[in-house]
Order: sequence, then structure tokens, then C-alpha cells
Amino acid sequence: MKKLTGPFTQMLPLTGLSMKGPLKDSQLQVIKNGWILSNNGRIITIGTLERLRRDHPSAQIEEIADERVVLPGFIDCHTHICFAGNRMNDYALRSAGKSYTEIALAGGGIWDTVTATREASEETLTKLLVKRSERHFSEGVTIIEVKSGYGLSVEQELKQLRAIKAASYLTKAVLVPTCLAAHIKPKDFDGNQGEYLEFIGKELLPVIKKEGLAKRVDIFIDDNAFKPERAVQYLEKAKSLEFDITVHADQFSTGGSEVAVEAGAVSVDHLEATKDRDIKMIANSNTVAVALPGASLGLGMGYAPARKLLNAGACLAIASDWNPGSAPMGDLLMQAAILGAAEKLSAAEVFAGLTFRAAQALRLENRGTLATGAPANLQLYPASDYREILYNQGKLKPVMKMA
Ligand code: NIG
Ligand code: FE
Repeated sequence: MKKLTGPFTQMLPLTGLSMKGPLKDSQLQVIKNGWILSNNGRIITIGTLERLRRDHPSAQIEEIADERVVLPGFIDCHTHICFAGNRMNDYALRSAGKSYTEIALAGGGIWDTVTATREASEETLTKLLVKRSERHFSEGVTIIEVKSGYGLSVEQELKQLRAIKAASYLTKAVLVPTCLAAHIKPKDFDGNQGEYLEFIGKELLPVIKKEGLAKRVDIFIDDNAFKPERAVQYLEKAKSLEFDITVHADQFSTGGSEVAVEAGAVSVDHLEATKDRDIKMIANSNTVAVALPGASLGLGMGYAPARKLLNAGACLAIASDWNPGSAPMGDLLMQAAILGAAEKLSAAEVFAGLTFRAAQALRLENRGTLATGAPANLQLYPASDYREILYNQGKLKPVMKMA
């Protein structure tokens, strides 16, 4: 059924903006007192009430009484929210001066979450994931990428991916699964890094493909995870099975982004340690750079060089990295607003990074704008000017609405 929803004090369709490079706020189209014409949850067009009513006289009218700024739903293109347990102990140790790497080497870190996640049933994981997805949705995030990576065996990775699939039927958010079996080499694997990657390439990825559990494969390339030279072959294997590739790169040590770009990754995520040479290389590629300010905040470390990446011409997305270890907060808007203030990003750049540029990282067509054909999944902010949203640094929460 056709529906006319409005008026909105300001509407930001985020259409017609470039996929790469810097954006100015003056480039944002800001429609005052506009209306949305939708049909069964899809946007047909936006415009004035007079014109839309004249052209579509039978459309049902839904009036918005209060001041509202409307944006397309946010897309969080990097999370690890399928987990059990928590890592408050790690957090306390880090705050007392121990490094993420020291904690990992002392037996804490990712392995702790692997232990807790392995002990949880698929049903429990599903429930926990639905709860986190619903929280994210209520804060504006309508599409959420979710990684496995806390199972680290064939059976346990499949359990996580099945939980993600089950959760996708039970939450209002759209979930996009990614296999991160190459998170770290599990302690109980009898063999070296290369042998582990070969094993999951042979025994796990084909099953995921066959069961349609994920279309994306991720690997954590770092001195304390997988070395760049080890990753190349695994990524080739994943590509040969027609998976999209994404890489955790340059978080603590460099080398990862080069491997990612050479492999034609859809995105390269983290980049806190990326050097100027690699910034140029990323900018000259079709790989989306994903900044994860939540990990910087959780670890008390510097941010990815978002300003430099944009100035060099990269496509920059911003994601939460929500996970129990390095990024426990999981408030995407708050993190993006803080990154924007620290890295001197325009509102246009922040909103682009949370919407259509994040869609590009997930290879999702026609998502993250209010264009014709896009889902009419809206965020309504109680504000009269879009600048209030980032000004409040995440404390202004939206009301979610399907037009
Ligand atoms: O993106 N860097 C590696 N992996 C995650 C952390 C996961 C964890 O600590 O549990 C990240 O920060
Ligand atoms: Fe991550």
C-alpha cells in the first residue's frame, strides 16, 4: 500500500554524494518539510506534500507531529557481537597499564571469549545476539555485519554462523554474516599458523559455502595473529571459493593493508598503525577503509588516520567493532561523533561513513540512502537541525520508523 509520511523538519537523503574522498556539509542536500512516498516499506520518492498528493491521490497519509530530522538507517559494517561471556577482567588489567598484546600473551584476550563461546549452546548465542542486535537497531543501526571468530574449530565456527542465521529471523536488523575463523590460531590446534589456515580453507570454507552461511571471509593480520605472508594463500583459497574478502589490518603492526589491497579486499579495517605509503595505496584502490573508533576508545589508543585517508581519496566507512574485548561499548553514533571531532571530519563525511559508504564495504546495492527502491527504514531524530545529531555526540537517540 502506498503511504505518504511527513512532514520532516529536515530530511537528508544522502544521495548524489561521491563514494570516495572528502565531502563538505555544503554538498549535503537538506530538504525542509519534505515527505516520503513509500510502498510496502520501499521508498518510491521524496518531495513536497502538494506534489506527492497530486500525483498519488490514493496514498494513505501518516503525519509526523513533532520536529524530526530524518536519516537513512545506519550500517555497522564490522562487529563481533556473536559471543558469550565478557572480558571485564581484561579491561581492568588494561586500565591498570597492561597492553592488549601482553594480556593476549598471558592467556587472556580473544581466547577467553573463545572458551566462553564454545561452552554456550547455539540457542544461547542466538538469544545474546538478538538482544545486542535489537539494542543496535533501537540506536539507529538497521544493517549489522556480524563475524564469527570465537569458535575457531570447524564445528564451533559453524555453530556461531548458524546462530547468526537463526538470529537474523528474530531481529528487526538485517544481519550480514562473515567467517572470521582466521581470528587467531586456536591454542588446541596441533600445527602452525599456515597449517591452521590450510585446514580451515579445506575443511570449513567449503561447508560454509555449501550451506550458504556466509559470503564473506575475514582474517586478522598482525604480529600476534596471522603474519602477512601466511595470509596470502588463505585469501587466495577464499577467493577461489568466491567469497568476498575483508581484512583486520594495521591495528598494531603494518603489512596487512598491503596484502588486503593486493587480494582485492572489499574492505580493510582498523588501520590505526597505517603509514602514509599504505594510505595512498588504499586510496588508489576499490577497497573501503573502515575506521573503528570503538576499538581505539576501548584500548585507549590513537584513531585510524581518517582525515588523511579521505584527503588521499579513499572511501571511508566507520564501524563499531563491537566485541567483548577491545570495543565493548557498541555505541556506533557516539563513536563516530567522537572520531569526527578528533579527526576533523565533516558531518557529511561521518554520515556517509555510517551509511552508503558502509554499504559499499558490504557490497550492498541501494542501501544507506533514501533513494528510490531503498528500504524505508528511517531514523527520526528529535531535532530541528541535522547538526544537533553529532553535536550531542551520541546522546541524542533516534526513534526508528518504517515509512
Ligand atoms: O577487531 N583485532 C582483532 N579482533 C577484534 C577484537 C576481538 C576481541 O578482542 O575479542 C578487533 O578489535
Ligand atoms: Fe574487529
